[in-house]
Amino acid sequence: MLFNKFSCRSIPLYTIMHTDLSADAKNILGLQLPTDPRWVNLAGISLEDILTDHAYCEQKAAVSCISLIQKYPAREKLVNELSPIVTEEWGHFRLVLQELRKRKLTLGKQRKDEYVNKLFAFQLKGGHEDDRFLDQLLTMALIEARSCERFKRLSEGLNDAYMQNFYRRFMESEAGHYTLFIELAETYIDKAKVRKRWAEWLTYEADVMNNLEVRGDRIH
Ligand SMILES: [Fe+2]
Ligand SMILES: [Fe+2]
Repeated sequence: MLFNKFSCRSIPLYTIMHTDLSADAKNILGLQLPTDPRWVNLAGISLEDILTDHAYCEQKAAVSCISLIQKYPAREKLVNELSPIVTEEWGHFRLVLQELRKRKLTLGKQRKDEYVNKLFAFQLKGGHEDDRFLDQLLTMALIEARSCERFKRLSEGLNDAYMQNFYRRFMESEAGHYTLFIELAETYIDKAKVRKRWAEWLTYEADVMNNLEVRGDRIH
């Protein structure tokens, strides 16, 4: 099944879309495997768990952006573009936390993130620094893209209009982020190389998704 039907790319991205995003970046995005339709039903029945998991995903996104800035301070565009994303991701964490509090739910413990760990396993560990840098950016792009897809599913699939809207806002925001990470990759690395490696990542990610247990208490 083609993923295009489910792609966050097919929705209007409003003002969060980066206007200078290259055509190449737009063309190479696209997850290969849509979320298992059973997932959204499961997600609807364990809101406390999924909100907890979501809260940590947002935290990790903020931390990863800080880490990239710390690793690559000389890359001016990266530092300038990711600095506000840190604030935005932390704001997302606070929004999710507020939702838990409002519902008298508890922020649970952080769980082992199998999905992200499997992506990390695919990252190059040696070789040229640029190749490792590219993998870090593409990992971020992929997590954002998959999160965007999951939020889209939640925004369409939950029975609660308030929560639908809640997730729609995240979906729009994460759509802007995944395009930004591709754009950053293309700023520093040859575009053909970015495209080739992105295709490898997409294939790998589809395989990871295929082998992950379908659980309603996790974003990934
Ligand atoms: Fe976020
Ligand atoms: Fe994000």
